[in-house]
Amino acid sequence: MDAEQRTVAVLGAGTMGTGIATVVARARHRTLLFDVSEANLARGIDAVNGFFDRSVELGKLGRADAEAAKARVTGVTALAELAPANVVIEAVLEDLALKKEVFGRLDDVVAPRTLLHTNTSTLSVTGIASGSRLPERVVGTHYCNPAPLMRLVEVADGRHTADWAHRATREFLASLGKTSVVTKDRPGFIVNRFLIPWENSCITALETGLGTRDSIDTAVTGALGHPMGPFRLLDVVGLDIHQQVATRLYEQLRDPRFFPPPMVERMVSAGDLGRKTGRGFYTYDDTRFFGS
Ligand SMILES: NC(=O)c1ccc[n+]([C@@H]2O[C@H](COP(=O)([O-])OP(=O)(O)OC[C@H]3O[C@@H](n4cnc5c(N)ncnc54)[C@H](O)[C@@H]3O)[C@@H](O)[C@H]2O)c1
Repeated sequence: MDAEQRTVAVLGAGTMGTGIATVVARARHRTLLFDVSEANLARGIDAVNGFFDRSVELGKLGRADAEAAKARVTGVTALAELAPANVVIEAVLEDLALKKEVFGRLDDVVAPRTLLHTNTSTLSVTGIASGSRLPERVVGTHYCNPAPLMRLVEVADGRHTADWAHRATREFLASLGKTSVVTKDRPGFIVNRFLIPWENSCITALETGLGTRDSIDTAVTGALGHPMGPFRLLDVVGLDIHQQVATRLYEQLRDPRFFPPPMVERMVSAGDLGRKTGRGFYTYDDTRFFGS
């Protein structure tokens, strides 16, 4: 199917839904961005438009292409409007009961062969799929933040995911220009299994005085070849998100390496969440959701 002919619904116009909608529109799919909050939806549409405008400013995209991409995105607040979707990507709050309910409601709206993707970070894909009467078409697709810039998506099948849904999902991700890797439906998938304990150990190194913010970030970029150091990365991800993901993984895995060090709680309670609040490990003038 040609990209232009696909209709893709993205549920949740927060950090991830907005980034994913940008990726989908950039890949020339018709994009329906859905949120229960009109204010969040308006903010999300602004963020998508802002991304494309900034891409033009940076010389990465022509003005005509940017306008065409923006025109492919429609904001909706009625679930019934998602009926034409060939693919639905769920990026609502990380809450199992909510996600199950959303998947159950989608069954009444979209066609039986419509793919249902969940962007969960820490919940079981099988558990979320149990909210649908057709769990064979539910697949975990875990995008990295910021979605427009990060190439990797992890693909996790639930217990009842059908082969056709898995294959169609990987083909769809390729149409977005993403590299997909397959992982088991286990807490943290691959990336967060490695990332969270590593970030925690960097925070502990800072807290115990092994190095400074700058020396640790410089050591990691200079010697390990990472594009950004752990503190720059934590500021992009958000300290609140790190805390939430780390705590949820600790609760499931009972491995102390996942438990967030005390500095995380202090920063979160002070509102120093990173880029989105203008201050985290670093300070920022620009608090947009994602860069370009
Ligand atoms: N933030 C990250 O770094 C990151 C990375 C990968 C995956 N995820 C996952 O992506 C999902 C979304 O995370 P986020 O950080 O974008 O959250 P967010 O809080 O920024 O946005 C969530 C959005 O969902 C909306 N929402 C709530 N209930 C809804 C419903 N019933 N229908 C439609 N929209 C609804 C909210 O109004 C909000 O706009 C979570 O499952 C999270 O674990 C997050």
